[in-house]
Amino acid sequence: MQRKSVMDLDCANLFEDAIGPGHGLRPAEVDMLSERIEEYTADIRKRRGEDIGFMELPYDTRLADEIESKGRELAGWCKNFVVLGIGGSALGNITIQNALSPSFGGRPAGSGGKTRIIVLDNIDPALMRDFVEFVGPDLPETAFNVITKSGSTAETMSQFLHVRDLLRRTDGCSPEQQMILTTDPDPAKSLLRRLGEKDGYCMFPIPANVGGRFSVLSAVGLLSAAVGGVDVRELMEGAAAMESRCCSDVMYDNPAALYACALFKHYENGKPITVMMPYSHRLGALALWYCQLWAESLGKRNGLEKKDIFTGPTPIASVGVTDQHSVMQLYQDGPFDKVITFVEVDRCGEEGVPICGSAGVEPQLQYLSGKSFNDLFQAELVATRCALRDKHRPNCTLRLPEVSARTLGELFMFFQYAVTYSGYLYGVDAFDQPGVELGKQYTYGLMGREGCNPPRLS
Ligand code: PA5
Repeated sequence: MQRKSVMDLDCANLFEDAIGPGHGLRPAEVDMLSERIEEYTADIRKRRGEDIGFMELPYDTRLADEIESKGRELAGWCKNFVVLGIGGSALGNITIQNALSPSFGGRPAGSGGKTRIIVLDNIDPALMRDFVEFVGPDLPETAFNVITKSGSTAETMSQFLHVRDLLRRTDGCSPEQQMILTTDPDPAKSLLRRLGEKDGYCMFPIPANVGGRFSVLSAVGLLSAAVGGVDVRELMEGAAAMESRCCSDVMYDNPAALYACALFKHYENGKPITVMMPYSHRLGALALWYCQLWAESLGKRNGLEKKDIFTGPTPIASVGVTDQHSVMQLYQDGPFDKVITFVEVDRCGEEGVPICGSAGVEPQLQYLSGKSFNDLFQAELVATRCALRDKHRPNCTLRLPEVSARTLGELFMFFQYAVTYSGYLYGVDAFDQPGVELGKQYTYGLMGREGCNPPRLS
């Protein structure tokens, strides 16, 4: 039997009762979107498994078997497992590793392995040089997962060529043995797939109906997770538990739909900035993953009728408590243009990390003695949330019992559904990204690719 979702969404501080009229939403403003949610849910059901596939991923047990088996094999011999990819082909991997591996290296509790996971999501020459120097002595014990849905992204393909060359030139190394390619299953669409088939590489598919930023629960995110010792079944179970809540057409039973509607209403009421602020060091990268999902899905020139609408909220990543001493000043006293989403974790790591005993503590610091870091961390979140409320700043909280594979799976699914509903509300196609294409074409032109024009430079 499927276990239940454990995430809770607290929206109270988005409404006028909490933050005051003119700042908070009137319940009727959100209620009036409930019929639209019924319509959108019906449309999502029709499209499910057709042109939208992310919600099907947690049920793919065959993939989980394959990933677990490949993950075990790789963890058996790899000192390093390196992901070569960018955007949606990298951020999910980074989020999983940051959330579930100990902060200063090492493996998730109980996994017992030794592989270091590296995600190389930039081609900055200094980074590439440092990377090759770093990995050089361990090259025969390093595996590379080249991830690109299109199978042609210049950044990833240049990394692929560079590493393949390196492996070819190094004694005891073999690209075909050490590189795993994750790409579109259709050779007509992916050059990497064609190349992998020709040379006999191990390959994993990214389903045709799953775009880059919606692919974290496919082989894209799961393989590095498995090699790193993450329980991928738990990740998928958590996602499935949330999926069963987010496919409801009743807005108040569907946290993703409610969240999307409330944030959209705030956007319409003049709050175009959405801040993602987990109070969890380990979820810091989730905020970056969220920013990409939000920005690339909703920031669009064209509406669904192909007319110019130039729309989309601006996402910002923050992390508690660190950013209380940075951007929080702006969030509390700056323009009334933001909505903040907190992620609150009941048990952040060890509950009882005591700050210190009371003996010998200066009188001014006695309030800290006998308390734990957990006490202080939670107090700071409550204090910040209340201060924002009292200053009429809309905020909401996603509450989790802990950071685990299961709750991370829930968060991934929640946000992917929320952005899907948001796409309908903003009237845009949440699944394309035409804006970044022009830059890609210009890059190809500048690099001399046949048939591509460079930009005008002055
Ligand atoms: O979400 C997306 O579609 C993008 O961010 C892509 O993941 C990114 O552009 C990389 O593309 P690809 O996976 O084709 O290399």
